[in-house]
Amino acid sequence: MRRAVCPGSFDPVTNGHLDIIGRASRLYDEVVVAVLVNQSKSGLFSLEERMELLREVTSPYGNVVVDSFQGLLVDYCKAQDIPVVVKGLRAVSDFDYELQMAQMNHGLAGVETLFMSTNPLYSFLSSSLVKDVARWGGDVSAHVPEIVRRRLTERIGTPPST
Ligand code: PNS
Repeated sequence: MRRAVCPGSFDPVTNGHLDIIGRASRLYDEVVVAVLVNQSKSGLFSLEERMELLREVTSPYGNVVVDSFQGLLVDYCKAQDIPVVVKGLRAVSDFDYELQMAQMNHGLAGVETLFMSTNPLYSFLSSSLVKDVARWGGDVSAHVPEIVRRRLTERIGTPPST
């Protein structure tokens, strides 16, 4: 069975993430979406909330599972026997760091990285931007699944008008 991992923070999952996960799910028998347990970085959503949102929005794909990991991604890949990481590249600005990580992961454990070019519709999108726009009452409905938009509104609330 050919398996790949899509790792990330997913705080929260965006339509850009979902595009890459969905496309990866057509290339591999199983795609594991692995959420980083980041003890030093407190997110807007807890690990459980991020995973629950991911499970909900990836449920239409029959071959996507959601998991979490801590420590090195390559250790998770080895433990799960997953040889490939799939990442989206939004723009040239992503490339430097992504290349460094891909080379490090390959050097550490022979784990390969497959880069997918992001759909241009989502090339400017990030979880941080979405949270910022939502914080100020902006409309993020084109950028995240509806359930994520609702959770953002519940968590952040509607800012008072000035
Ligand atoms: O969504 P993000 O925050 O851009 O995802 C980054 C992530 C989780 C893929 C990356 O930080 C990672 O792989 N972290 C695990 C720790 C690790 O393996 N570090 C060495 C990378 S070469």
